[in-house]
Amino acid sequence: MKRKLNKRGKIALTILSIMIVSSVSLAFIYADNTTEKHILESTDRYDLKIDYPSIKNKKIKEKIMEYIDGQKEEFMNIVKKSEDIEISSKYDFNLNVTSSERNGITYVNMLTYSYTGGAHYIRDDNSLYWDNETKEFIDLKYFFQDEESFKQMTNLAYYYVIKLGSDEDKNFDELLVKRGTAPTIDNYRHFKFTDSGLEIMFPPYQVASWADGEINITIPYEDINKYLKEQYRDTTKDETVAKEVPNIRDLEQFKDKKLIAFTFDDGPSTSNTNYLLDNLDKYNARVTFFVLGSRVDNNKDVLKRAYLQGNDIGSHTYNHRNLNLLSDEGIIDEVKRTNDKIKEVIGVSPTLLRPPYGNLTSHGKELANMHVILWNIDPLDWKYKDKNRVANEIIEHAHDGAIVLVHDIYKSSVDGALLAMEELEKEGYAFVTITEMAELRGIDLDYQTSYFSMKK
Ligand code: NI
Repeated sequence: MKRKLNKRGKIALTILSIMIVSSVSLAFIYADNTTEKHILESTDRYDLKIDYPSIKNKKIKEKIMEYIDGQKEEFMNIVKKSEDIEISSKYDFNLNVTSSERNGITYVNMLTYSYTGGAHYIRDDNSLYWDNETKEFIDLKYFFQDEESFKQMTNLAYYYVIKLGSDEDKNFDELLVKRGTAPTIDNYRHFKFTDSGLEIMFPPYQVASWADGEINITIPYEDINKYLKEQYRDTTKDETVAKEVPNIRDLEQFKDKKLIAFTFDDGPSTSNTNYLLDNLDKYNARVTFFVLGSRVDNNKDVLKRAYLQGNDIGSHTYNHRNLNLLSDEGIIDEVKRTNDKIKEVIGVSPTLLRPPYGNLTSHGKELANMHVILWNIDPLDWKYKDKNRVANEIIEHAHDGAIVLVHDIYKSSVDGALLAMEELEKEGYAFVTITEMAELRGIDLDYQTSYFSMKK
């Protein structure tokens, strides 16, 4: 589907083929030794060239011929209508059908360029997809688990088109991109799964101007595996990341305990986070880290250590921006870059998100597609930087199911949290991660709720 020739190249090729055909100057149809079939016609009024592969499957062949006949008829009607008009340059018709197969799916791409006067060629794109096993025509939704998964893919498509525009210094119109990538099947009629991911072709005008030509993007499997039906995933890339299995605790021991989830934002910090990790076992505690993507590279070892110890690793976005002030692309970028960074280090993509300042609209949640975890105990540790004050605030407000917000970039905050644990342990509390708390409470985290606490 990634067509090698741009529009100009195709027209040049067309002109070249017209020159060859013109010297023959009569209409004929033939099939050559290979599987390709050609139809060539040339008169002093028009040139016509059709290439298509010979396909055994009757149903597919029928559809291809239907397309060819329809396009040809349309062209010939215009030719006929213009019989008495003097034309400055010959009319031209060039239809090309290609087909390929991958993982039991037959892909057919059909492209028509025609010229019947006017400023430029008219282009028509059509594609067919056939499941060789179930013997039916399919569309892109077929590969995805459900509507929601398909929709998540379209958010990524939007993101990759905008990104392509900025990478190539083109200013795509955001509204046009939004409309052209909206989750309708009509917007995704031209695609192909390849070794690198899902390739999507948007014909000219759909997401960019005519001058920008067709727009091709590839969404890598790493981004869409979780949305695809299992048999269409490609996890070969995932497997190259050496996965180490984190420590998993037996939750039975916490069944009758009051629970508190300590969450640490804005890290990791090699010194303070390590200091915290050194002390968690004293209180049989595991906690949740909402890390900044921008801090991962400089604190890889401690992040990995935190993960393997059995703590939750969530995202606090890349640059700690107020997501409510960002464009859709900005939100996806903040979330995606962080997830990719974390995955590079621990081998899995986080599922928990703490938006900076707790800000995220329901539309933003849809774009992020993560479980949004907020808090209901906030000792303002970043402001007072006083371990006793931090500890007292937490102890005073502690209750079963609470989520505590502190920051592991300050030693006073880590000390304050540890002091609080020491005291609260005596009061019958257990210190669990968000994942553990949800499991113990029987909560199946969704993508719309903002979780402030997990009370019984
Ligand atoms: Ni923060």
